[in-house]
Amino acid sequence: MAHGTLDGELAAIARRIDEIADADAHQLEALKTALLGRKAGALTAILRSVADLPPDDRRRIGSAANALKVRIEEALGARLKALADPGRQAGVDLTLPGRSTWRGALHPITQAVDEICDIFRELGFSRVVGPEAELEAYNFTKLNIPLDHPAADAHDTFYLGPGIVLRTHTSPMQARIMERFPPPIRIVVPGLCYRRDPFDPSHAPAFEQIEGLVVDEGVSFVDFKAAIDFFVRRFFGSGTRVRFRPSFFPFTEPSAEVDAQCQVCRGSGCPTCKQTGWMEIMGAGMVHPAVFEANGVDSERYTGYAFGMGPGRIAMVRHGIPDIRMYFQNDMRFLDQFVE
Ligand code: PHE
Repeated sequence: MAHGTLDGELAAIARRIDEIADADAHQLEALKTALLGRKAGALTAILRSVADLPPDDRRRIGSAANALKVRIEEALGARLKALADPGRQAGVDLTLPGRSTWRGALHPITQAVDEICDIFRELGFSRVVGPEAELEAYNFTKLNIPLDHPAADAHDTFYLGPGIVLRTHTSPMQARIMERFPPPIRIVVPGLCYRRDPFDPSHAPAFEQIEGLVVDEGVSFVDFKAAIDFFVRRFFGSGTRVRFRPSFFPFTEPSAEVDAQCQVCRGSGCPTCKQTGWMEIMGAGMVHPAVFEANGVDSERYTGYAFGMGPGRIAMVRHGIPDIRMYFQNDMRFLDQFVE
């Protein structure tokens, strides 16, 4: 081998020493193998060949190669030390707190939905879901709501096409379940509903509801009151009072609206409950015989109750959330408060 080539190779190796100073741990290992590796190291090969050189070259190349080896080993050692102690590099403050990873969580309404459904599960209710794009018939007529009823008004309902709407409540699932399953029926149905409402502090065009439906022989209003009483005490606390006010829905008779004691003022009156001490939490009633008949259930044999509540509203009452729009803004300062 001509020694001119060896000189050139030594020079090339020497130039690689600069790379060592910037190497990360992985690159450092690779450089060490490439230069000093026992089998394929470039410098190792030169050192091995020195013995076969003519005496003059042997001395000169040998000492140059050995000096280079020392320089490389020093550079490798220095870089290894720096990597093990990053604080020694300029600008790193090891006293700073570590970066914590952000953990996802369920939306506060989802949390309320799960909690409410779990409470009803203790009373034997199954959780089912149904379509958000719904046939007009299920949303209205099968529930004894004539299409000229104010609730079916085009101002309140998003129409997707002729006879197809975005459901305005979860009650259509009453009809779908009665039609398919014979009693006894005990279900809760959470899901999104849509109305052409203004987006203001207490209305959103898309909102969550939970429908409840019980159909069996001998079900009475007392059973309904007992179930709701159980739910309210479990969800809001055992001392919470409940009241039932007469109301009207085309699909229940008699109908009621259920109020729970305001959680913000505990019943003494405040802006949240408009000074009444009560918060409305659901519409409800005994299933109207016309709804049974429209969906294939024998209204002579069976009775039942149904309710529809808004978990979003209910969670507002519980947490003192002043504006329903906060649920939809994805502001982490708001959402972070509900990370469990
Ligand atoms: N569907 C009614 C609403 O959206 C609530 C309701 C459900 C009332 C079941 C009675 C029975 O307002």
